[in-house]
Amino acid sequence: MSATLVILGATGDLTRRLLMPALYRLYTMGHLEGLSIVGYAVEDWSREQFLAHLEQNLQQFAQDFDPTAWARLAGQVSYRSGDLSAEKLGVLHEGLSPSALFYLALPPSLFGTAAQGLGQAGLNQENGGYRRLVVEKPFGYDLASAEALRTQMHSFWAEEQVYRIDHFLGKETTQNLLVFRFANRFMEPLWNAQHVAQVQVTFAETLGLEGRWRYYDQAGALRDMLQNHLMQLLTLTALEPPSFWDAEILREHKVEALRSVRPILPEQVDQFAVRGQYTAGLMKGQPVPGYLQEENIPATSHTETFAALKLYLDNWRWKGVPFYLRSGKRMAADYAEVAVQFREVPTRLFDGERHLSNWLVFRMKPQESLDMVAWAKRPGLNLETRKVVLSAPYERQGDPEYSAYEQLLLDALQGDRAHFLRFDEVEWAWRILEPVLSAWKEGKPEDYEANSEGPAAQAGLMEPGQMWRPLNIPEAE
Ligand code: BG6
Repeated sequence: MSATLVILGATGDLTRRLLMPALYRLYTMGHLEGLSIVGYAVEDWSREQFLAHLEQNLQQFAQDFDPTAWARLAGQVSYRSGDLSAEKLGVLHEGLSPSALFYLALPPSLFGTAAQGLGQAGLNQENGGYRRLVVEKPFGYDLASAEALRTQMHSFWAEEQVYRIDHFLGKETTQNLLVFRFANRFMEPLWNAQHVAQVQVTFAETLGLEGRWRYYDQAGALRDMLQNHLMQLLTLTALEPPSFWDAEILREHKVEALRSVRPILPEQVDQFAVRGQYTAGLMKGQPVPGYLQEENIPATSHTETFAALKLYLDNWRWKGVPFYLRSGKRMAADYAEVAVQFREVPTRLFDGERHLSNWLVFRMKPQESLDMVAWAKRPGLNLETRKVVLSAPYERQGDPEYSAYEQLLLDALQGDRAHFLRFDEVEWAWRILEPVLSAWKEGKPEDYEANSEGPAAQAGLMEPGQMWRPLNIPEAE
């Protein structure tokens, strides 16, 4: 493949921590032959300075850094400095392959300007190759700003040229939701409201702000995690089965799932959404500050660091099944999963007990695994039951491991749009959240202590007889 990858924002955090390590790894695995990489940023650096900066960061962030391999890859890397005006961006024409991909590793407020600048400079024009634009999340700040950004972008770039990243779509467990559902005959008959009682999507992090105050205090957990990552996990769990593998059909089905989400009425937001903000506590025995004491966070900030939602999909398959989504920072564990609970069996044949805990769990953290929680006979003279967990670690020894960015960069270079968001997916995700975003302009989040399970009010979202799954579930459930 002969192509150019231009990274706008090449001196920034995303490039040094995630993009370059991913590119380096892809290179060492032989995937980047014929690709030139151009870094572009405002810093007035020489190529040597840029390479030294990359090398220093690769030593820290790349797996198995090998200076010889880097020296070879560095031969494919150049640097240009300039701002986002068409006039300055025009310099990128020099030495550009007919096929080029422009990666906006920039603050979200600059996505529109950059897309426009590239367009005005004519870099969007395809002539014997492709021109693609890769955009990071968040795409917009709410529905109106997402639509405005789209209009700005689309005066120059066609939808097919735009690759909107949600890095969760590059994760193994996310992709496995589709594979496990549609490659196993026993799944489809059970995958509906008749058999499924509830779905819980949890993404709990022990991390706090990690110096990202500028972005995070504007965003909050609902925009940072639920609008994109968790909503994607929901759509992949809920969508109707495509009959063949095609990016457009897949995305069509995802949008259909989102469109069937019952709108939350403004007066009912409290019954469907809960927010929290962490206070000081002890993490691994060390004191950590509360959100309001974090550096640069205003003492009056009402930004939520935890958000939970209950959504219903009003369609034939899912009518009446609650989908609970939640994510928070400074929680008691790094714990993430999509957990599907099946309904109780109709009889109580054994030990008069209710057999409620049939779960199928797609676990992402702490380890990727697939767990089925079932009932089996307790050894002994009586016909009694006990829980067993059929657990399959996702990876086997020797399996190749790719990070989400490695997968997605390669997909974008190869033109596979299946794991990128189409605009209407983003749009519908915002639409679902609009009433919540609007209600949350008033009032404030509930406090929760760092190293806890989150705010107490989250329990109020649950339907009778349902409870959040605890974090830190031991292997044997
Ligand atoms: C990012 C969010 O998109 O996803 C972060 O902005 C979050 O706040 C991160 O920590 C979680 O994803 P991962 O892949 O790092 O676990």
